[in-house]
Amino acid sequence: MKILVVGSGGREHAIIKALKKNPAAEVIYALPGNGGIAADAVCVPVGAKDIAGITAFAKENGIDYAVVAPDDPLVLGAVDALEEVGVPCFGPRKNAAIIEGSKAFSKELMKKYGIPTARYETFDSAEKAESYIDSLPEGNIVVKADGLALGKGVIIAESREEAKTAVREMMLDGKFGESGRRVVIEEFLTGPEVSVLSFTDGESVVPMISSMDHKRAHDGDEGLNTGGMGVVAPNPYYTPDIAAECMERIFLPTVRAMKAEGRTFRGCLYFGLMLTPDGPKVIEYNCRFGDPETQAVLPLLESDLLNIMLACTEGRLGDADVRFSDKCSCCVVKASRGYPEKYDTGYEITVDGKPDAEIYIAGAKLEDGRLLTSGGRVLGVTAVADTLAEAVQKAYREAAKAHFGNEFFRRDIGARALAANKR
Ligand code: AMP
Ligand code: GLY
Repeated sequence: MKILVVGSGGREHAIIKALKKNPAAEVIYALPGNGGIAADAVCVPVGAKDIAGITAFAKENGIDYAVVAPDDPLVLGAVDALEEVGVPCFGPRKNAAIIEGSKAFSKELMKKYGIPTARYETFDSAEKAESYIDSLPEGNIVVKADGLALGKGVIIAESREEAKTAVREMMLDGKFGESGRRVVIEEFLTGPEVSVLSFTDGESVVPMISSMDHKRAHDGDEGLNTGGMGVVAPNPYYTPDIAAECMERIFLPTVRAMKAEGRTFRGCLYFGLMLTPDGPKVIEYNCRFGDPETQAVLPLLESDLLNIMLACTEGRLGDADVRFSDKCSCCVVKASRGYPEKYDTGYEITVDGKPDAEIYIAGAKLEDGRLLTSGGRVLGVTAVADTLAEAVQKAYREAAKAHFGNEFFRRDIGARALAANKR
């Protein structure tokens, strides 16, 4: 099979490394990939949002199967476009990707189908949003841009005044462009967060191993929200009882709701959950694999990723072999100092020896045979071990072997999970 993977980050590198294990994967193209991914796939300089370029490449090169990994092309309809030229895909069509593409849509869906989530209201007018904020009790208020904003369109305001400022910045000053023209104002929830990625063919839903992301830039969950600075899997807060409750009250109802709406979702549906004192609630849906979650979850997958993906596409996930190991993993992300704001790039990445871990490259380019940093998140180092404590220790030990100028990383990935569970 000739396979095309759309995207360029650590997540795509992890997906490509897993796909390669199947001998049927004769060649894998990454559009656009990156300098590190080039070690595992043929990188082609076509941007992930260049839908016309992607379909043209697929047609010209006789692509048999495509995996569309990032949110932007999914929301723009890359899967629809590829299917139109006869290429089957892993990933939702545009009308299903809206579950991530519009928070107003996903909140409405949850309300209609009784799926537990934070109470909310949606606003197209800043004035109405502000008077709604005035009607809320003083305290934490969550303001979210409706559309995609690289995970940065969520403001946890600590007062009504702060919430109103966020509304004005989004709706009047265009801080997140079109994504912020409409806002969702939400009740503030508390509790541990859990990421659950799942495979679905639109009927069946098979959750992967749970995980815990670390979204803030700095130790102790300080600093700005990022795309994610590290992950451990499984998430010790996510007990078998909670998993069963989520399946019954959240996962299956969501997949059925999408089908009932005429928006059958096939691909990876990501449930961002909060385990509140009132039970698990949905914080967000993503229409794709999470990043870096994928870098911690796929190394624990024992069965074959390509076969599972094909089963999702072909509507036979119910019969597919989806097995995860009972080991634990930890992924430490190394980033450019300054991320998620301004940072310098162009530093050489070097790796000492052959680390006993997976190194997924997220932001690097090849220049004269040297690998240079080119992004905020540069690489993810994932170690697998029998216990979470060992996985964390090993990830840090091995991460020290991959270095570059201007690097920074969190020193406390997994600390909260370890405190919760001595496994
Ligand atoms: P989102 O992009 O919707 O996942 O939000 C980013 C982060 O903001 C989440 O991972 C949570 O940590 C936080 N967050 C979002 N919504 C809420 C909420 N209703 N209550 C508390 N925290 C939230
Ligand atoms: N790591 C969170 C996300 O992929 O949205």
